[in-house]
Amino acid sequence: MPTKNVFPIQIYTANIGSKSKALNAGLLHDINVLTRTDLEGIRWSKKNYVGGYTSYNSITDLHQRFPDFIDLEKILRPHIKKYISSLHWDLQGRKVLMTTCWVNVVPANTYHSLHIHPLSVISGTYYVKIPKGSSSLKIEDPNITKYMNSPPRKISAPSTQQPYLHLQPKAGDIVLFESWMRHEVPPNKSSQDRISVSFNYEWL
Ligand code: NI
Repeated sequence: MPTKNVFPIQIYTANIGSKSKALNAGLLHDINVLTRTDLEGIRWSKKNYVGGYTSYNSITDLHQRFPDFIDLEKILRPHIKKYISSLHWDLQGRKVLMTTCWVNVVPANTYHSLHIHPLSVISGTYYVKIPKGSSSLKIEDPNITKYMNSPPRKISAPSTQQPYLHLQPKAGDIVLFESWMRHEVPPNKSSQDRISVSFNYEWL
């Protein structure tokens, strides 16, 4: 076919392999402590993250606070480097560094609606506990507002040409995307908690 694919959107996915077992056990322990002791986060989640818990509005420096999160930040470094290289970013002598890191505990039927992460350049999630049947990460085609009168895509179109991409993570997976990409976590259809760590990187 005489067409070219241009202006690509890149989403980075990887799994940390055998390192995930010990790391996830440590992270789960820390997260369990947070869900019992982070009173500000518990209060905020009750209002804004109904049914679940997130430290998004209370403790976002976990990568500087708990050894397991410090380890996670170190494990992520080479992946961030690879993603930046694939994006062909010219950092002009500046650095891309993790500035916020928080946890998300999503129980049955809880969701997180479409959003972006302003003031950051790369955002992403590390998956700690992903029960069978729990939510995907749903990423929206950033061109969606420009489709106007375009005919809809066939249901049989490849996943890369659908208006939404559903990534089905598993424990130990990393997903990185540019912070302007709108994304959401649809309702958790598993009866168990879906537990993840999210983070933002800024260009400093
Ligand atoms: Ni997000």
